[in-house]
Amino acid sequence: GRGGVLAGRRVLISAGPTFEDIDPVRFLGNRSSGRMGFAVAEAAAEAGAEVVLVAGPVHLPTPAGVRRIDVRSARQMHAAVLDAAVRSDVYVAAAAVGDFRPTEVAAHKIKKRGDGGLSLELTQNPDILADVADLPQRPLLVGFAAETENVEAYARAKLERKRLDLIAANQVGGGLGFEVEDNSLTLISADGIRHLPTAPKRELARQLVGVIAERLAGRAAA
Ligand code: PMT
Repeated sequence: GRGGVLAGRRVLISAGPTFEDIDPVRFLGNRSSGRMGFAVAEAAAEAGAEVVLVAGPVHLPTPAGVRRIDVRSARQMHAAVLDAAVRSDVYVAAAAVGDFRPTEVAAHKIKKRGDGGLSLELTQNPDILADVADLPQRPLLVGFAAETENVEAYARAKLERKRLDLIAANQVGGGLGFEVEDNSLTLISADGIRHLPTAPKRELARQLVGVIAERLAGRAAA
């Protein structure tokens, strides 16, 4: 509610996958359902924040009190996030952004030609977090790291390389992380590490919102 731990704070969240079109009927995507980011949006709104949720193509209802902006591609997500970030106190990047897009989008459905294969040329997408980190008045930056192995080491590397304030690392694959209801998170910052054991994403989101509120209030340890 209005008196919650994030009252008066403006929270920007990205959620879901991006779809990168190949032709009018095909795309490159990933397995993100949007659940984790939508749960953070709901928890932040419940904590009294003014919430903007930039959502990739997902099938989820908008949490109460949240302003939602729907996008499809990484470049659209980049534009929507950069636009809103200048008016935000914190940016939580829970989206699984496609690292690459087809260099050219075919105007017509690509047809098979004999028995031959098809090569797609890919171009790297912009790094949304890196560009938010470059803003003159950057919000508190909370990244996510989805890894199938060496979760903590890779997450620490991302925290530093992407100049984040906090990273929420999760193991994916083998029934964890993407698509499912439950998750577990390891929160890592320059001054600490905290494990949030396996729980429904809505519960983890409430705990993450509590940690974010502490950091906004006093830059407390992770
Ligand atoms: O949506 P769900 O099904 O609930 O699944 C949740 C989740 C597993 C997708 C989520 O918890 C999660 O981990 N999201 C990040 C997924 C990811 O693949 O991250 P990454 O390692 O590619 O990127 C690291 C960080 O950089 C992320 O915060 C990402 O949003 C950001 N990024 C990545 C690429 C890019 N071009 N721009 C970015 O800002």
